Amino acid sequence: MSKRIQDFKIVNKASAGGNCLLTLLPLGTPDLHDITPGQFVQVQALAPEVLLRRPISVCDVTPDGHLILMVKPIGNATRHIDSLAVGDTLNLVLPLGNGFDTSDMQGRRALLVGGGVGVAPLVFLARALTAAGASVDICIGGRSAADIAGIDSLFVPDAHLHFATDDGSAGHHGLVTSLNAFSADYHRIYCCGPTPMMKAVAASARNRGTDCFVSLENMMACGLGACLCCIEKTVRGNICVCTEGPVFNINQLLWN
Ligand SMILES: Cc1cc2nc3c(=O)[nH]c(=O)nc-3n(C[C@H](O)[C@H](O)[C@H](O)COP(=O)(O)OP(=O)(O)OC[C@H]3O[C@@H](n4cnc5c(N)ncnc54)[C@H](O)[C@@H]3O)c2cc1C
Ligand code: FES
Repeated sequence: MSKRIQDFKIVNKASAGGNCLLTLLPLGTPDLHDITPGQFVQVQALAPEVLLRRPISVCDVTPDGHLILMVKPIGNATRHIDSLAVGDTLNLVLPLGNGFDTSDMQGRRALLVGGGVGVAPLVFLARALTAAGASVDICIGGRSAADIAGIDSLFVPDAHLHFATDDGSAGHHGLVTSLNAFSADYHRIYCCGPTPMMKAVAASARNRGTDCFVSLENMMACGLGACLCCIEKTVRGNICVCTEGPVFNINQLLWN
C-alpha cells in the first residue's frame, strides 16, 4: 500500500522509560500490514506554534492491528501529543522511510542495541526477527533506572534483554557496549539511540567485521524528500534520511 494520510484513535495510554506510550486504532482502512520495522510516521500536532508534522518511529504493530508510538515530551509538538487522552484522534502520514533489513535472519543471531526513544523501533524489529526464526539479544542503555522502567514489557517474550545504566541504579553499571552480551558473535547488529551510542556500536561492529545497521534521527521537516533539511553525508554523496533512510548500513556512512 502507498503512503497515506490516516486518522487513528487513541485507545490506551501508558508510560515506559519516562516516555508516553500510545496505542492507536486505525480508522478507515484497518490494514497495517504494509508497515515494516524501522519505518516512521509523521504526526500532526494541533498545538500553538507547531506548523510541521513531527517524525515518530513505529514502535510496534501488534498482531491485533494496533499501532504503538513511544513519545518523549521535549517540545511543543511532543508535549501536545503527550497531553492527548484516550478517545482523542491523531492524524498520521504513513508509512515513511526504508526500514530495517530483516532478510536472511532465519536461524541466525541478531543483536539489537538501543537507548532513549531509540528503543522504540527495536520493539517491532524484535517481533519481526523472532517471527522470522532469528535468536534476538537486546541491549538497552539508560542514564538511570527511570530511563529503562517498564521497557522490558514492550518486547516479545522470546527476546533476551540486557540492561545497563550509567549510574548503576538498574542492570549493569556502565555503558551499553560493556554488557557481556555485546561480545558474543552475531550475524547482524541493529542500533537506534543517541549518536555517540550508535557510533560506538558501529565502531565495535566494524572491528569485528559484523554487518551493522543504524537508524538515524536527523531533524526533519517534510518527511517526504522535498525540503532537503535531513541530509546525511554518505559514500553516495548527500542523501535524504527521510526517504533513503532512516536506516543505513554503517558502510554507507562517513563515520570514523
Ligand atoms: C526518523 C525519526 C524518528 C523519531 N522517532 C521518535 C520517537 O519514536 N519518539 C520520539 O519521542 N521522538 C522521535 N523522534 C524525534 C522527534 O521527531 C522530535 O523529538 C520532535 O520532532 C520534537 O518536536 P517538538 O515540537 O516536541 O520539539 P521541538 O521544539 O521541535 O524540539 C525540542 C528540542 O529537541 C530537539 N530536536 C528536535 N528534533 C530532534 C531530532 N530529530 N533529534 C534530536 N533532537 C531533536 C530540538 O533541537 C530542540 O532542542 C524521531 C525523529 C526522527 C527523525
Ligand atoms: S525532511 Fe524534507 S527532505 Fe527529508
